[in-house]
Amino acid sequence: MKIAFAEPKLPTSGLLVFLVGAEAQLGAAAKSVDKATKGALTRALKAGNFAGKKGENLSILAPQGREKTTILLVGAGEAKDLDALRAQEIGSQIYKAVGGVSGKSAIVSVEAARGAKVRAPRLAANIAIGARLRSYRYDKYLTGAVNGGGSRGPNRLQIMVKGAADARKRYGQFAPVADGVDLARDLVSEPSNVKSPKWMAAQCRKLTKLGVKVEVLGEAQMRKLRMNALLAVGQGSVRESQLVVMRWNGGGRNAKTVSFIGKGVTFDTGGISIKPAGGMEDMIWDMGGAGTVIGAMAAIAGRKAKANVVGVVGLVENMPDGNAQRPGDIVTSMSGQTIEVINTDAEGRLVLADALWYTQKRFKPDVMIDFATLTGAIMVALGREYAGLYASDNGLAERLVSSGQTVGEKIWRMPLDNAYDKQINTPRADMKNVGPRWGGSITAAQFLQRFTNDVPWAHLDIAGVAWSDKELPLMARGASGFAVRTLDRFVCENYES
Ligand code: BES
Ligand code: MN
Ligand code: ZN
Repeated sequence: MKIAFAEPKLPTSGLLVFLVGAEAQLGAAAKSVDKATKGALTRALKAGNFAGKKGENLSILAPQGREKTTILLVGAGEAKDLDALRAQEIGSQIYKAVGGVSGKSAIVSVEAARGAKVRAPRLAANIAIGARLRSYRYDKYLTGAVNGGGSRGPNRLQIMVKGAADARKRYGQFAPVADGVDLARDLVSEPSNVKSPKWMAAQCRKLTKLGVKVEVLGEAQMRKLRMNALLAVGQGSVRESQLVVMRWNGGGRNAKTVSFIGKGVTFDTGGISIKPAGGMEDMIWDMGGAGTVIGAMAAIAGRKAKANVVGVVGLVENMPDGNAQRPGDIVTSMSGQTIEVINTDAEGRLVLADALWYTQKRFKPDVMIDFATLTGAIMVALGREYAGLYASDNGLAERLVSSGQTVGEKIWRMPLDNAYDKQINTPRADMKNVGPRWGGSITAAQFLQRFTNDVPWAHLDIAGVAWSDKELPLMARGASGFAVRTLDRFVCENYES
């Protein structure tokens, strides 16, 4: 979809969108059209019982005096609630509503609402952002033979606003971030017959054109580094495991390094501790953590952030096989700590154990933040709304939650405690890879912490939020690209001068 900004100039044909404030309040531009159509707008508002609440839409076809136009009224709600996030939701609402009246292109009139928290250009830019995020579709495998592709939204939105240049600039800064979100969604949506660890590594390599330095380690190199925990997960797959390192050095020599680490299990059958058949297809998105990291690297490099950021993703496929690891195996991780593998389906933590250790050892980062669709237990705790956050550092936790709030990604802090840590002790090795029945997301986090070597660390269990079965305010169903925008904000707010 193309989005353009222009100074206000009302056209006399085409699809015209106006925002309507609470209590059916029209802006000046809408009022002028109302006059030119002998009150068609006010009549329709009355007849349609339209109050201008958020989520409401009303279309008026070919009104007298403006026969060549369709007017779409979109409820914007109370002016006092109209902040940047709310504006994004309105943008998403406009995108859908325009598609609903089968408009291919539309002109959206944006005026500053009296009492709104944001001024007109920022309001317009955020409306554009919302529309852009909502316009994502994963239609790569729709040939049109059966399913005509479903209803499509507009392919062009022109936003009319006083201060169009300012709005254009603001939106321009966001575009690379949206590209990062869409990249994460594309990766997560890809089916696992295509999405092997090597395929994922090839997608990472494409970030080179944004100025990201990309290194790919294969199994031979990882064996030399003694990454036996990660390698054990992939040993049942015919597809070679990979570890990808992505570096963006926009911050200069003396800047601190931020690191992101992602679980990239390209398909999780559970291994020998095999999962039940029902819903196993969901495990195509078990590389969602890696998707977040890769998308965030694309966003950060795409907008040339003045920060030094490292992204590390562990890419493996977890399969049952004659060569697969067994329950009861003991592996020695890169850190030297030994792990008794009680359940081969608790594989994400084995991958992250080596990826975390490698990251802190090689890059001496200021912080490490890992992302993983790690446990079903986090979905039991928080449902599909909030991601679970674990952190060894209170300041880091607060900064992440706050960046999430700014962009509308919900993050809830969970506890770490020595009492949980003890629950993964075992007589046969330094630790086992599963704890007792209760608190499964917490014991998984405790396991990871043992590989952080006391570097300030945060872990986001995104199992509940990497994919959405229902439509979200800014997203179609499917892969969400969760945390790409949070990480972009986090870097911007804390690591750029
Ligand atoms: N990838 C799964 C977690 C998951 C479940 C992600 C559902 C997304 C949706 C993870 O590897 C896993 O299998 N975890 C087990 C751990 C258990 C064996 C201790 C789980 O949560 O059941
Ligand atoms: Mn698993
Ligand atoms: Zn998994």
